[in-house]
Amino acid sequence: MPTQADRLMDVAIRRSFLIPSAEIYGSPAGFYDYGAVGSQIKRKIENLWRQEFLQKEGFHEIETSVIVPEAVLKASGHAENFADPLVTCESCRQKFRADHLIGENRQAKKDGVKTAGLPPAELSALIRKYGILCPQCKKPALSDVGWFNMMFRTNIGPIEGNTAYFRPETAQGIFMDFPRIIRNYGGKLPIGIGQVGKSARNEISPRQGLIRMREFTQMELEYFFNPRQQTHPKFAKVAHRKVRFVEGAVPPREITLVEALSAGLVPNEIMAYFLWKQWEFYRMVGIPPDKMYFRKMPPEETPHYSKGNVDLEVVTSYGSIETVGTAYRTDYDLSQHMKHSKADLSVFDEETRQKVVPHVVEPSMGVDRLFWCVLEHTFREKSAGKDWEWFDFPPCIAPYHAWVFPLMKKDGLDEKAQAVEEQLREAGLSVCYQESGSIGRRYARADEIGVPYCITIDYETMEKNDVTVRFRNDGRQIRVKISELAEKIAQFAKEGRVTLN
Ligand code: GLY
Repeated sequence: MPTQADRLMDVAIRRSFLIPSAEIYGSPAGFYDYGAVGSQIKRKIENLWRQEFLQKEGFHEIETSVIVPEAVLKASGHAENFADPLVTCESCRQKFRADHLIGENRQAKKDGVKTAGLPPAELSALIRKYGILCPQCKKPALSDVGWFNMMFRTNIGPIEGNTAYFRPETAQGIFMDFPRIIRNYGGKLPIGIGQVGKSARNEISPRQGLIRMREFTQMELEYFFNPRQQTHPKFAKVAHRKVRFVEGAVPPREITLVEALSAGLVPNEIMAYFLWKQWEFYRMVGIPPDKMYFRKMPPEETPHYSKGNVDLEVVTSYGSIETVGTAYRTDYDLSQHMKHSKADLSVFDEETRQKVVPHVVEPSMGVDRLFWCVLEHTFREKSAGKDWEWFDFPPCIAPYHAWVFPLMKKDGLDEKAQAVEEQLREAGLSVCYQESGSIGRRYARADEIGVPYCITIDYETMEKNDVTVRFRNDGRQIRVKISELAEKIAQFAKEGRVTLN
């Protein structure tokens, strides 16, 4: 019986959102391509992030190499610490993630066993205690647990020994470039540097579609600040805004950011401010607020570089999943790189006339996970008004601004429609011309990929130079002059309008 997630993945593949990578060769697990529709949505999510987290904050965007020399990742701790617990079946030689096998065991679940942060010896003991069998061959033949480093390893150039890795996070590139960027911008803190790019993690047994990919896109921001100034100039504006927060096993509760701060859920104003930005961003892309919450990570789940992590989790058909991790990385990375490279990465603080090694707060978002959450929360079943499944994407991330149709493929309506399409493209809108099938079928196809507006050129257009604009969610229409069309569509999209009224 297919799960809800299987069903949605099937829809996503059929509608050009996603394509399993290298499909004709069997699609290795953990890799997905974005199709012609999906890549437009993904790009819009990324550009909205750029707008909200970089442009509106006056921060800088960079693009760093995906292949990183080993020395960088030794200093950052990834070479030693970035590993998952691995177990091998000594009978059939299959390999599994030990913590997942324990987590899936019915009795261990009943006993409330938590595996996060446990060393291999304790995981091995749990496998024995619960008599966990190999899920593949069903024999009691699982080995002791060991660590498996998750980085993809390669070699730079033809001479062996020049080890490098596909970066496991985009952040390290930002730390590498920090000294030049801060010098070029006057040497003053705070400064924000972000990037959108691919990272890779060689997951032991990826499952759950886009949730656990081996190659994925991150949108990461590193906010560098003087550790003596743990305040944020815009925090006062958002201090009394409410978000949902979880700590431990209690259900999410509504709490203001200033309350979260005084309860010690968040280490400083800076992180609290960025949590609010994430909350707003998630709402903009279509995640309902009652389906998401922040979680303060317990120490055993906090990454090696962080003094405190808060995750943004979204409720999905896979369960609750982490989609943003915000880490208080302190001076961990810069200090480690100073030690290993001998470069001076400190900054001279004019006010205190002292050198400081900046601290860092890092909001790190996974684009693919967010993309999946958006699909889950905007997917709509057939209903009385629509005899087809559709997507209720907010216009800011919908794959196209509009589709343009001639009512009929004759009498010059098609040429006129193509001229309108061209005019909208020239105005910077993303549009698509469609002429095949009945008009009702074309509306349905547009809804099926979440296009918010359909523009139809009919016989009246030829006389009055106006068109109909149909709103996706209620199917109602208005007439708009062609001369005002681009401006109106852009305005509707900006307002997030998906119904006539
Ligand atoms: N930079 C944080 C992470 O990739 O998880």
